[in-house]
Amino acid sequence: MTATLPHPTQGTGRVVWFTGLSGAGKSTLATALYQELQARGEAVELLDGDAVRENLSKGLGFSKADRDTNIRRIGFVAGLLAKHGVTVLVSAISPYRDTRNEVLATLPAALEVFVDAPLEVVTERDVKGLYLKALAGEIPHFTGVSDPYEAPLTPDLHLRTDQISVQEGVQQLLERLGLGEA
Ligand code: PPS
Repeated sequence: MTATLPHPTQGTGRVVWFTGLSGAGKSTLATALYQELQARGEAVELLDGDAVRENLSKGLGFSKADRDTNIRRIGFVAGLLAKHGVTVLVSAISPYRDTRNEVLATLPAALEVFVDAPLEVVTERDVKGLYLKALAGEIPHFTGVSDPYEAPLTPDLHLRTDQISVQEGVQQLLERLGLGEA
């Protein structure tokens, strides 16, 4: 007889999924929200693109197939944590709309947050020096330069990080989560 295992993504914890270009501010906002929620005593976890790629997704590259695998893995872990009531903050470019929608649909209480800054702005910021290299052709498949980014059509929250401060972004996130002001 085959045992029926519970679906890993049946849960009540919220998942806040930050998507956007490299340098748009996903990690900054996710970290600031993480600190705010932790200070309030919430069970909260952060799945950040860079850390995930050093561990859970080590060895994956930036082809569509590898990015999709990365996003599905993150979604799977987020679902497991959410099942235990943890608020999960995901920060990953997650450039493909279909894959994002597919994964978000498996997470019962997910919010899609579009962390948005124009390409000119993130290129100007170039926090990690990657845009300069990508524009010089030194990094193939770089999102926004030589690889696609498909913006959410109906995000739960759209934060223009070239127009608002981190604190304002966190406040909007808290309000969207029903947690009031920072
Ligand atoms: S994805 O598309 O969601 O799987 O990407 P993610 O796991 O978030 O990883 C993005 C970070 O990897 C660095 N990096 C690149 N980004 C985009 N395209 C290419 N080709 C690339 N190569 C390396 C970059 O530092 C991204 O970090 P963030 O935090 O987004 O700036």
